Amino acid sequence: MPLKIAGIDLINPLIVASGFLGLSQSIFNRLHKLGAGVIVSKSISLLPREGYINPTIIPINGNSYINAVGLANPGLECFSKEISQNDVPLIVSIVGSKPEEFPEIVNKLKNLNILGFELNLSCPHVEKMGMEIGDDPKAVYDIVKSIKNNSSKPLFVKVEIGNTDIIYELKKNIEIPIIGCGGILSYKDVVEYMMAGASAVQIGTVLGFEGLNSFNKILRGLNKYLESKNYSDVSELTGTAQRY
Ligand SMILES: Cc1cc2nc3c(=O)[nH]c(=O)nc-3n(C[C@H](O)[C@H](O)[C@H](O)COP(=O)(O)O)c2cc1C
Repeated sequence: MPLKIAGIDLINPLIVASGFLGLSQSIFNRLHKLGAGVIVSKSISLLPREGYINPTIIPINGNSYINAVGLANPGLECFSKEISQNDVPLIVSIVGSKPEEFPEIVNKLKNLNILGFELNLSCPHVEKMGMEIGDDPKAVYDIVKSIKNNSSKPLFVKVEIGNTDIIYELKKNIEIPIIGCGGILSYKDVVEYMMAGASAVQIGTVLGFEGLNSFNKILRGLNKYLESKNYSDVSELTGTAQRY
């Protein structure tokens, strides 16, 4: 099910969402072996962050988590060493509070073997980071510019949307590829997101509840669906709902 997004070759449209299953190179390798098209790292900040005191992740209803981890991570220096020998398709999620922090992060990582960056503007529970910045168009502009000025690698900007109606509207109005994320538990959810306009999707929670093999289960379902509808290429699904 190969496809291309923003110049990146993916073996399939399933991407591991940021924050799931840690930050170690060994887990990235394992996820890749299990069928993840691309893995997004947990968000990395310039300096280490301890995050909030546990419990920070609570499962509810057998299919969701409430979480407030507080962007805990070992910081740029330590993470760049961890992934220095990386050879799996990895996007590094980055987070910060000021435009000045991003050139340092990007310059340290850009020559490593990574596909690109994801800017986390979606975190709802840390002051002056993530979603709070996402609500300020000038700050978003300055941060995106500071990243793009320092690296030619693809940059994905992660904002809080999490619903197919909004992806449908976005697809009507913008040309850049959209990656859907939020609530994807089965191949049907993947089909729905892609028909609305997503070029690929990210999954997180389902890996926690159904285990790492959920990749294969979703991919098998998606394959069967594509065959039954005579699609020859998974990217043909993108935006099909826009025609109706
Ligand atoms: C425990 C946990 C940690 C997360 N950490 C991050 C993070 O560091 N950066 C980020 O952009 N999103 C983070 N997220 C959000 C996920 O990447 C994803 O957007 C969200 O869980 C919705 O997708 P899902 O319904 O497939 O889980 C985290 C989510 C959880 C549950």
